[in-house]
Amino acid sequence: TTVALLFGGRSGEHGISCVTAGGVLAAIDRTRYDVIPIGVTRDGRYVLVSDDPEHWRITDGKAPEVPADGDEVLLPAGAHRPGEPIVLRVIRGDRVETLAEIDVLFPLLHGPYGEDGTLQGALDLLDVPYVGSGVLASAVCMDKAATKTALRAAGIPCAPDVVVREDEWAQDAQGVLDRVRRDLELPWFVKPARAGSSLGVTKVSDPAELDHAMKTAFAEDPKVLIEAGVAGREVECGVLAGRGGEAPRTTVPGEVRIGDDLEFYDYESKYFGKGTVEIEVPAQLTGEQIAAVRAVAAHAFVSLGLEGLARVDVFVAADGRVVVNEVNTMPGFTPFSMFPVLWANMGLDYAALIAELVELARA
Ligand code: DAL
Ligand code: MG
Repeated sequence: TTVALLFGGRSGEHGISCVTAGGVLAAIDRTRYDVIPIGVTRDGRYVLVSDDPEHWRITDGKAPEVPADGDEVLLPAGAHRPGEPIVLRVIRGDRVETLAEIDVLFPLLHGPYGEDGTLQGALDLLDVPYVGSGVLASAVCMDKAATKTALRAAGIPCAPDVVVREDEWAQDAQGVLDRVRRDLELPWFVKPARAGSSLGVTKVSDPAELDHAMKTAFAEDPKVLIEAGVAGREVECGVLAGRGGEAPRTTVPGEVRIGDDLEFYDYESKYFGKGTVEIEVPAQLTGEQIAAVRAVAAHAFVSLGLEGLARVDVFVAADGRVVVNEVNTMPGFTPFSMFPVLWANMGLDYAALIAELVELARA
């Protein structure tokens, strides 16, 4: 079986995606899978890159980058007939050569142009089987406002929020502030609608900080959510399912615990060792709480039409309610990331999890 790994990408999570790829390249069973490593440059070109995991590590506090000068890879030109091979080509100098026949494409991409349905739509047009959710679920889950609209419609609790567009903020910041003060209890979390890894997110404890927080979020996306913080524990649950999303399997959840030295679990603390962060798997919750989290995660997965995999991030509130924070269709996937650790705790180790995802995509 030949698997094309796609990583890097046009989003702010480019480097994180490369680190994820390094983990997968080191662990994928090479006796079973031939791997074609394809980097997506920051400006969106597909290039053949190194398959050496060492190349894709964080060094000196810097995440790796897909080099802009690799040989360009060409995806198939259009839909092919059933049974026809999926052939990738590569441009070498002034020649186009056949690179490989692939069976599955594994988009290890986070954020817009990878996790948001755009790539998935392109692959659907080309009849290329791929790991993970399809167009609609990917697009909905990329947008935190759309995710919450869909979850609320399914009766799944989410934190109260106000959605603000950049032009609205420019014209009537005071009006927005009045509405937010009236409707949302402090602290507030200001988040770009379509970003990940907490990029552009600020915790606001004093309304005077809102303007700065909005500008930080608008730098990532012209659509921003102001959310009421949920007092409770931050808990994450892994889900796996086949194409079509039937019969999702959930993990026992894990917990993210941060020290007093952090405001929240932000980008630097997620990947670059800032502050005190403890990942506890399994989370020390009661049997009842664990069952509630798993049920909400499965319900969210089905309601959103997810396929393949997802990590459902929730808060377990002080009163026991499970409130969904967000859903990631391509969660961080290094061997130390929450999603693989959750599955390892269930008896599915990292290499087996990668194989499972590839097989689910082919089924
Ligand atoms: N967006 C990051 C990769 C995550 O959710 O894990
Ligand atoms: Mg995310």
